[in-house]
Amino acid sequence: MKTRILMVCLGNICRSPLAEGILQSKLNRSEFLVDSAGTGGWHSGEQPDKRSIRIAKKYGIDISSQRARQFTVIDFERFDYIYVMDSSNYQNVLSLAPDEQAKSKVKMVMNELFEDENVDVPDPYYGMEDGFENVYKLLNEVCTEIAQKLLKN
Ligand code: 4NP
Repeated sequence: MKTRILMVCLGNICRSPLAEGILQSKLNRSEFLVDSAGTGGWHSGEQPDKRSIRIAKKYGIDISSQRARQFTVIDFERFDYIYVMDSSNYQNVLSLAPDEQAKSKVKMVMNELFEDENVDVPDPYYGMEDGFENVYKLLNEVCTEIAQKLLKN
């Protein structure tokens, strides 16, 4: 059975599509399924933000076929690991968790690099292009770490 990892942000158009694309690029598709979702549903069905598509393409990753969807309670069953981008996503996802086992799957993604520090991946939506470059770098570093850990298991 594949190991399933879900990346979650607010809109599922900026940060988590990048996290999905970056992590999947470091893992074999026959063994690992990586997906993403947003706690909000306003952008459901949309392509990732053009700025996320552009920055991913710059580093050789195509995320243009992804489509946004909203996180649902079923995701607690469908995924083994649920990584959120910031503390607000963390509160929103935890508030939907039906039990302790579900809660235990949810982690702040940057805690994989900076344990217990609860560093946010900043929301780049209202900012400039360099915000996306910064998000890409953070996610690339942490996804390298996550992939190494998953491959050791
Ligand atoms: P994301 O960024 O959570 O990284 O996808 C956002 C995208 C859209 C909105 C907020 C954040 N929005 O308010 O529409």
